[in-house]
Amino acid sequence: MGQTLQLVGLQWGDEGKGKVIDALAGRFDVVIRFQGGANAGHTVQIGEQEFVLHLAPTGILRPQALSILGNGMVIDPAGLIREIEGLREQGVKVAENLVISDRAHVVLPHHKLLDRLRESARAGGRIGTTGSGIGPCYADKATRDGIRFCDLMDPAVFRERLEALMAMHNPIIERVHGAEPIDCDAVCKEYCAYAEVLRPHVRDTVPIIRQALDDGRNILLEGAQGSLLDVDFGTYPFVTSSPVLTGAHTGSGIPASRIDHVLGLAKAYCSRVGAGPFPTEQDNEVGETIRRTIGRLGGREFGATTGRQRRCGWLDGVALRYTARLGAVDSLAVSVLDVLGAFETIKVCTAYRLNGQTLTEFPSSAQTLARVEPVYEELEGWRCDISEARSWGELPPQARAYLEFMEELAGAPVEFVSVGPKRTQVIERRVHG
Ligand code: IMP
Repeated sequence: MGQTLQLVGLQWGDEGKGKVIDALAGRFDVVIRFQGGANAGHTVQIGEQEFVLHLAPTGILRPQALSILGNGMVIDPAGLIREIEGLREQGVKVAENLVISDRAHVVLPHHKLLDRLRESARAGGRIGTTGSGIGPCYADKATRDGIRFCDLMDPAVFRERLEALMAMHNPIIERVHGAEPIDCDAVCKEYCAYAEVLRPHVRDTVPIIRQALDDGRNILLEGAQGSLLDVDFGTYPFVTSSPVLTGAHTGSGIPASRIDHVLGLAKAYCSRVGAGPFPTEQDNEVGETIRRTIGRLGGREFGATTGRQRRCGWLDGVALRYTARLGAVDSLAVSVLDVLGAFETIKVCTAYRLNGQTLTEFPSSAQTLARVEPVYEELEGWRCDISEARSWGELPPQARAYLEFMEELAGAPVEFVSVGPKRTQVIERRVHG
């Protein structure tokens, strides 16, 4: 009997999913990405080589695995082709092992244009999107005007749907935003060429996934963004446009009842790119120390997609409790624990204070979240380099105590600990049976 495991980031993204998925992918026959698009950026370091993946599931770095871009994704064909070419240049096999769901939506030029135009029009209230057209593409999907890969595969259908779509969007682009309208002929020509390159990979993934389940294959469901960016449960409106925490079923077609294990991934501290409330943010020497230390240890606190510097802060235990429990997380993977070795004492937020009251529930309103004061518990630091530790027992007692504190907050045991950027810098702990 195969296992279906879902990996979910429990914070604002950039929890180091790329590395954990890569470590796990060796055990899985099928790896499926179920939401998001080129807004994601997973960095995986293998030996001296570094791979940055935006659209392809991380399973692509394991040639024996079938990597599926699920129906819940929004895919920029040009970006995907560039990524495939880049991977091939780095010696990665991309052939029949990469499958694109024909139900996934196509990111079109007007999506990227509207993403930028709407951001500039949100005066003072920018979300800080990655500009990859994610929101407008999901908006077209929700209004049932979107174009899917099955449409892209048929030039006549593509043209018809594109013309209908642009008849709706071009007047807004021109008259509301004063920008150049999209030229349908040029887009048709460009996208029909992409269609031919991607055609060998585009399939109906429903029977493929059903077969994999029937054959007892091990399946990994890979979330791209973090749960606090979930369109329903995140810090709305400072979120992405897809269900990160709850989208594994709808974005892949795997029945929710067939997901056997949810592995939640959290950084040992918190970081965020883009705008929005971040109660434990340390826009000071602490944040700088985190960024500097991670740089020294071979990582970086810059977004893999946008290159923007990440905002850094202490672990937010209220948020961790909220996302881990909402996501029914069975076990935890904790990343970049090594970075906290830089601190004498480490703070963890366990509650918020607002108007003289103590809050232990994560608020729905971003305005409320922006006003809360974190209540911290202070834990003893370990003040040493743990990057060579390969077992739980090799970790200093203070580091183990910190991880146990995270377990208590999340209500789940720590199964993996990442202590450095390399594939080998992982501690695995048996937490079952
Ligand atoms: P969008 O997904 O490009 O619309 O951006 C919405 C918000 O999500 C912005 O704050 C982005 O910075 C953030 N975001 C989107 N994808 C990622 C990711 O993979 N890692 C971290 N932040 C992300």
